[in-house]
Amino acid sequence: MTQVKGKKVYLGTNTKMYKGVADTASYLEELCRLTGDLSREALELFVIPSFTALESARRCAPRELVRLGGQNMGWAGEGPYTGEISPKMLLEVGADIAELGHSERRHVLGETDEMVNRKVLCAAEYGLTALLCIGETAEEKARGLADEVLRTQLKAGLYGLGAGGAERLWVAYEPVWAIGEHGVPATKEYAEARHDTIRRTLTELYGEQAGQAVPLLYGGSVNPDNAVGLIRMENIDGLFIGRSAWDASQFNRIIRQVMPLYMNK
Ligand code: PGA
Repeated sequence: MTQVKGKKVYLGTNTKMYKGVADTASYLEELCRLTGDLSREALELFVIPSFTALESARRCAPRELVRLGGQNMGWAGEGPYTGEISPKMLLEVGADIAELGHSERRHVLGETDEMVNRKVLCAAEYGLTALLCIGETAEEKARGLADEVLRTQLKAGLYGLGAGGAERLWVAYEPVWAIGEHGVPATKEYAEARHDTIRRTLTELYGEQAGQAVPLLYGGSVNPDNAVGLIRMENIDGLFIGRSAWDASQFNRIIRQVMPLYMNK
């Protein structure tokens, strides 16, 4: 392959409310075995399992091979927040990514931009990588509002986050209409156009250099047929994958399709 992209590709999955302790462990063991030969200088591999599986997941998967994250996070180090998991608790079990504002949390569980913002700030305070998920609904897309929605979710979600916090920020563009069984993947051109909007907004907020440095991931029905096309796009630095990554060998196939673009040939 001739095209060589930036230094590193970001590839990860959120297993949602599917894999328990045993399934997560066997999945991670297989994923580490299959991908162990790939240089982590060019690959940031991450898995975001259920909270209950995190501690044993860390024991199965060395940090040098796979980073782990929580699918959500409370907005304080501790406090009277029944049912929430704090950044300190995530760090304690070896997870240093906080996935925040996933479409299912926003649209099924009622999370607002304001709540997401508090979590982003808290993740930064405790040194976690905030993986901020944003994306428009089908209706917003149909009304031509996609870019406005993305800009609003970014500016509201990142409100008050300084340049230091932005150094550990990742953003996932996950159009709501593209996610899940009934989702239709965005075309690479459509995804790139939205990533371009996100990039511009980040450079507005943090300046050219810092804005360019934030990894932008696409998510929503990524599969073995569209992964390479998406990742070739200038502003797509990674893929955040659901169903197509839940089988370790299929995820490994996608990883190996994409990696040659990043290995310095
Ligand atoms: P999907 O999920 O790849 O199964 O569409 C993506 C996501 O929810 O992040």
